Amino acid sequence: MGPIGVFDSGMGGLTVLRELRRRLPAEDLLYFGDTARVPYGTKGERTVRAFARQDASFLVNRGAKLVVVACNTASAFAIDDLQRELPVPVLGVIDPGVRTALQRTRGGRIGVIATRGTVESGRYQQQLSAAVGPQRVLARACPLFVPLAEEGMVDHPITRLVAWEYLAPLRDAGVDTLILGCTHYPLLKRIIGEFMGPETVLVDSAEALAEAASLTLAEAGLQRDPGGPPGRMEFYLSDIPWMFQEAGARFLGHPIDSVQTVNVNEADWDGHLDLAGKDVS
Ligand code: DGL
Repeated sequence: MGPIGVFDSGMGGLTVLRELRRRLPAEDLLYFGDTARVPYGTKGERTVRAFARQDASFLVNRGAKLVVVACNTASAFAIDDLQRELPVPVLGVIDPGVRTALQRTRGGRIGVIATRGTVESGRYQQQLSAAVGPQRVLARACPLFVPLAEEGMVDHPITRLVAWEYLAPLRDAGVDTLILGCTHYPLLKRIIGEFMGPETVLVDSAEALAEAASLTLAEAGLQRDPGGPPGRMEFYLSDIPWMFQEAGARFLGHPIDSVQTVNVNEADWDGHLDLAGKDVS
């Protein structure tokens, strides 16, 4: 009955952790954010696959009973490796997001926005095209959304301008369902929704994933008693970025008191930082 291990390239995966906490409050959650090597979305496949293997092993070595790949880019490039190699079930964010989009689309015209890596991998497009046909799927990289979300510019004219630039082709193409295929985009849901209009369904892959995690645990007989005491959350990062406390709280939805640091090269614990300023070693 170990924790659910969740990893991401950085702090964006806290949006996924937030949904897991909401859906599975009795589970212990172990988070690893590879903040020393973020972003993954601009990096090539080989690098992302190698990083994802290290990140996932870190979680398995700490007793994770299920590994959740919160990062869309890592899910796009590494999910097959991880599912093949790890001794525990592994879930990525892409399959649940695709399933939800296919359930919710009315006209079968589906858009995906994501990092450049995720778009270039073609993973979302292949899975969606198999169901609705390639002419009805449109994918677009929206790299500037990542720093805008991290800077908290979630209701800012610059973000509106960027949204216009990125999303106009999707709106013009009559997309009726749009997958937010990146950990950071749920923070920009309001601006994205306003631009796309009320007719467009926005699919948040974090919500879809939490549902899938619940099912996977139940099927494997690994779920904790949902009526039990609230689970613990532990945070590990490979670097503590400036402003992490503010940004992390924005992504998670509540403050983070304490994180541990990890030296990714040794994939091992190398210290502890108390963000309330108490210290540590
Ligand atoms: N976590 C990444 C994703 O969901 C976004 C940030 C990055 O590029 O590393 O694809």
